[in-house]
Amino acid sequence: MIIPSERTENITYAIRDVVVEAQKLEKLGKKITYLNIGDPLKYDFRTPKHMIDAVAKNIHESSYADSMGLLEARQSVFKEAVRNGTDITENDVVMTSGGSEGISMAIGAIMNPGDSILTPKPGYPLYNAVIEYLHGKQNEYYLDEENDWQPDIDDMRKKIDKKTKAITLINPNNPTGALYTKGTLKKVIDLAGEHGLPVFSDETYDKIIFDDDFKFHPVGTLAKDVPVVTFNTLSKNYLCPGWRVGWLYFSGSGMEKYSEAVKQLARARLSINQPMQYAVKPALEGPQDHITEMVGKLKRRRDITYKRLNEIDGISCVKPRGAFYAFPRIDLKIESDKKFTMDLLREEGPLFVFGEGFGQKKDTHHFRVVFAASEQALNDGYDGLERFVKKNFG
Ligand SMILES: Cc1ncc(COP(=O)(O)O)c(C=O)c1O
Repeated sequence: MIIPSERTENITYAIRDVVVEAQKLEKLGKKITYLNIGDPLKYDFRTPKHMIDAVAKNIHESSYADSMGLLEARQSVFKEAVRNGTDITENDVVMTSGGSEGISMAIGAIMNPGDSILTPKPGYPLYNAVIEYLHGKQNEYYLDEENDWQPDIDDMRKKIDKKTKAITLINPNNPTGALYTKGTLKKVIDLAGEHGLPVFSDETYDKIIFDDDFKFHPVGTLAKDVPVVTFNTLSKNYLCPGWRVGWLYFSGSGMEKYSEAVKQLARARLSINQPMQYAVKPALEGPQDHITEMVGKLKRRRDITYKRLNEIDGISCVKPRGAFYAFPRIDLKIESDKKFTMDLLREEGPLFVFGEGFGQKKDTHHFRVVFAASEQALNDGYDGLERFVKKNFG
């Protein structure tokens, strides 16, 4: 028997784990409505053709790429950041294998065993998986459901200690769909500044914003003095998660030594794939029509989601303002949200991810909905949920 290392013991990933049960049921002939996975390509979204053409044209580029990434891709990222108001150069950009690799490298280069990084609760599970892997300490601040899921700044302040190395923000947020106000972001930046901490700003969904009066603000544009590492990716905004092209960039002051350490990690893994990086320039500098179309479609699905969920007794949902996630609350007499979502799956077929998989306040229960699915699939899922709640809790 080969024994896995202790560092893998606390790594969980509910988003994929629930699929095992769904597939078992599917084999037995049950119709499953998948509303669990944040991959728009699994639904009715397609990669823009001009990006596919750019990759196809360069598919013969089979050597290792530059460890920092293809120059034209880094230049496009840097130009966009500067256009938005973040003061960086192309040397501040590192292309990564999806945003995921950038997150892992940024954490790996800052954290010693026993250190902590503030991460949101509920949050995206990758952060705590990496922290566990590095023998760090999970240290989570609450997102406040009563305040449109904005970060709870007082809680954040309380949780900073000698071992804290960075503050993570995910905006727009997975799993809540929240978009942070400029005021909230400024408070977080001030707090980071007071404690000499960098902000890790995960802006994966920055182009999926639904309402004109709720704007997205890149942290790098607001934090001129505070060090910031911004993570982004082609995966969601540009509809190609399987291509694994993302990036990070450094802004603010005091980043010289740390950014060199991240770059050293990038050199150690040689490079990310080469041909797919040719999609970055056409993506960021070419036509953006698909974004308008995608956001329009997702907004309709957001509206259906918000309306249908709030119509069900015992279920309530804060209105998502970005990304394609909702994190509705369950106020019913239940044992756990894991049992609730798994029973719902078995009885009615919609697959959601249980709230425990993302973390949540004690004695609250939630589940996550991916509303990138078609209107039909969403309505089928919500019909099933409604029947399930009436039958078991009515
Ligand atoms: C908040 C957040 N950050 C990062 C990622 C990683 O995305 P990728 O590695 O595909 O760029 C995801 C993917 O779902 C995400 O939701």
